[in-house]
Amino acid sequence: MEAFNLPPLLLSFFLFSLLQTSTIAANKSYIVYLGSHSHGLNPSTVDLQLTTQTHYNLLGSVLGSYEAAKEAIFYSYNRHINAFAAVLDQKVVEDIAKYPDVVSVYENKELKLHTTRSWNFLGVENNGGIPSDSLWKLSRFGESTIIGNLDSGVWPESKSFSDEGYGPIPTRWKGSCEGGSNFRCNRKLIGARYFNKGYASNVGPLNSSYETARDDDGHGTHTLSTAGGNFVQGVSMFGNGYGTAKGGSPKARVAAYRVCWPDVGNGGCFMADILAGFEAAISDGVDVLSISLGGGAIEFSEDLLAIMSYHAVKNGITVVCSAGNSGPFAGTVSNVAPWMITVGASTVDRLFTSHVVLGDKRHFKGKSLSSKLLLAKKFYPLIRALDAKFNNVSDNDAILCRQGSLDPKKVKGKIVVCLRGDNARIEKGYVVAQAGAVGMILANDKENGDAFEADAHLLPTSHISYTDGESVYQYIRSTKTPIAYVTQVTELGIKPAPIMASFSSRGPNTIEPSILKPDITAPGVNIIAAFSEATSITGLPYDKRRVQFTELSGTSMSCPHISGIVGLLKTLHPKWSPAAIRSAIMTTAGTEANDLNPILTSEKEKANPLAYGAGHVQPNKAANPGLVYDLSTQDYLNFLCARGYNKAQMKLFTNDTSFVCSKSFKVIDLNYPSISIYNLKSEVVNIKRRVKNVGSPGTYVAKVESPSGVSISVAPSTLKFTKTGEEKNFKVVLRRVQSNQTEEHVFGKLVWSHGKHRVSSPIFVTLKI
Ligand SMILES: *[C@@H]1O[C@H](CO)[C@@H](O)[C@H](O)[C@H]1NC(C)=O
Ligand SMILES: *[C@@H]1O[C@H](CO)[C@@H](O)[C@H](O)[C@H]1NC(C)=O
Ligand SMILES: *[C@@H]1O[C@H](CO)[C@@H](O)[C@H](O)[C@H]1NC(C)=O
Ligand SMILES: *[C@@H]1O[C@H](CO)[C@@H](O)[C@H](O)[C@H]1NC(C)=O
Ligand SMILES: *[C@@H]1O[C@H](CO)[C@@H](O)[C@H](O)[C@H]1NC(C)=O
Repeated sequence: MEAFNLPPLLLSFFLFSLLQTSTIAANKSYIVYLGSHSHGLNPSTVDLQLTTQTHYNLLGSVLGSYEAAKEAIFYSYNRHINAFAAVLDQKVVEDIAKYPDVVSVYENKELKLHTTRSWNFLGVENNGGIPSDSLWKLSRFGESTIIGNLDSGVWPESKSFSDEGYGPIPTRWKGSCEGGSNFRCNRKLIGARYFNKGYASNVGPLNSSYETARDDDGHGTHTLSTAGGNFVQGVSMFGNGYGTAKGGSPKARVAAYRVCWPDVGNGGCFMADILAGFEAAISDGVDVLSISLGGGAIEFSEDLLAIMSYHAVKNGITVVCSAGNSGPFAGTVSNVAPWMITVGASTVDRLFTSHVVLGDKRHFKGKSLSSKLLLAKKFYPLIRALDAKFNNVSDNDAILCRQGSLDPKKVKGKIVVCLRGDNARIEKGYVVAQAGAVGMILANDKENGDAFEADAHLLPTSHISYTDGESVYQYIRSTKTPIAYVTQVTELGIKPAPIMASFSSRGPNTIEPSILKPDITAPGVNIIAAFSEATSITGLPYDKRRVQFTELSGTSMSCPHISGIVGLLKTLHPKWSPAAIRSAIMTTAGTEANDLNPILTSEKEKANPLAYGAGHVQPNKAANPGLVYDLSTQDYLNFLCARGYNKAQMKLFTNDTSFVCSKSFKVIDLNYPSISIYNLKSEVVNIKRRVKNVGSPGTYVAKVESPSGVSISVAPSTLKFTKTGEEKNFKVVLRRVQSNQTEEHVFGKLVWSHGKHRVSSPIFVTLKI
């Protein structure tokens, strides 16, 4: 990933805001958590008001007046959690934290959207990545599901949210359309709300342009349409990759909760707003919450996103989160709570390729996604940027095609060769185009080697490797009249695919090593979906292109693929718990690419469950998994107890003060569809699991692929189910075997099979070496 230089205006704004925060000791905003409610699941208006009163009273007693408290509190969370958000000074925070009713005080932290914003155009999803198959038919395209998205809002006029052919809004929907002025919902986009007070508490007062759920970034429109966008025919990028765009659950209803705002520091999505979005979405009645944002992994009791997700799951909502874009380094995965579905990102089988053809007939394969109408098979004069510079600029500035470095007289009508480095790749194209060039060859610098990108360039471009770039330079030196052309093609059926995206955050789970994260991987590289028409594809000020669909990459893009698939499963199996749905998705995932070899990393090494969890999602198989590893909220509470949570920490999750932790419950016994054992020494480790039959009667047989250096047995090794819904327990025994093992991380698999059902769980063991 390459950093884009901030334009001067933005830079000074950024510096100014930095100065502001460092010179004035402004009050910060906090979330004061008071444990749970005494009121039930369907509180009356009076109940809610009473809870808010207690917030004013409590803070009032510290500040000295009820009115001051009312002034300071900008959110009173009175429905699913009992908390409030307020602007407070440090002294007040210290005082309030001492109150017995206060469980915890959190800073109103900022989270980031999980998009890479890399503008790569390597391939396309949606136009064939999810085939029109039986799960779609069985689940009637997810028609009974309501998918909510916590993101940057939505572009309501996008064709992806057309409600043509939709029946009335389900009567169970309790949400509403409060997207601000000029914002209309319909029978497809059934709800919209925005939450900006947590943002305002950090950046200062907001004008009316912030009173909207309308997406001016594009991210929220993209993710929501990936999860539940309607069919839109004839979508392409500059004529490339023509096809029909659609979300995972094309017939689901969708609702947008805007919690992200223009990034002024570290992300733009403030926790206080996220909590408000959750409270609303749970009450409104969404079935699935898609959350393509996050911070670093932190302890669950410190992680309001995890706490709030728990409350959503308790209400039967499946919460799907992105794993983060901090890969490929170990231990970078975020959103690691066991009640979330955590999604990594991988490629699809389509590439946008561009070829450079030189006058001497040599050609080189590069990448780009720019218009293909120009340059096709007609030679143009070719010039090095160095030979096209103004006399007043340095060689280095010219080679890199910096602003103001190229002389239009020398460039006009030619293809210019620029070197990668320092300034943004798309900016180079802008500079070249401004000077009148017809095309660009972007040659990698040595450092980037053959890691080239396909960007949304402003003119026909091919980004080629360092060695190919050297050949182009050598050719130019070898002839008086260098010529070339650039073509653009869409390659389909690329093998192998999927490949793990390099940026996709990896395990191990640094908070709870007994829970393998991420859970699953899904397409997240070069995904085409709906976009906001309020901004350009690249977001750069000189990019005037407005599009209805564009490509983005990130775990932000893979997360809503899973949300869409959850939507299908929810329609097909309305009674399944969030854990059962996750289990179905995980135990049926694939670990082979389309060339039948193991899934690889982008470094061409064999990928493992730390990258992809259970594997790559296979939606059709998830429809009928045979067995599921189910979990109740009780199990999660026992898990938290087993992690050593005290009474106060438990209050973050349950209002039931009489809840008694199961003494015998061990963290490794949480009935998760994967197995992760940390620091296996010489002892024997016994773990418990429980499977529920959701298919026809039958006898399942266990088969284990043991990780090297570990012996694994399963007891009993056959499970006979006579009816649907029946549950059976089994034990997995892991033993370190003597070996010259030097690897720390080892992997295996447990598979229960019966007929065509294969219920597969990844096994990950960290060996103490
Ligand atoms: C911080 O808040 C207190 C009230 O809690 C107020 O008296 C004070 O003026 C505020 N300080 C700033 C810098 O806003
Ligand atoms: C806890 O909340 C539930 C519903 O959310 C309610 O029915 C119950 O009465 C509450 N329990 C206590 C001890 O407040
Ligand atoms: C609101 O503020 C933003 C920046 O803070 C500014 O760009 C915009 O023009 C303002 N809009 C209105 C309607 O005042
Ligand atoms: C160099 O000179 C040209 C015209 O002579 C001018 O347009 C350009 O801005 C100058 N570049 C720099 C970096 O001073
Ligand atoms: C471990 O020992 C086996 C058999 O002695 C040998 O083939 C293998 O290469 C050794 N592995 C390592 C990592 O030393």
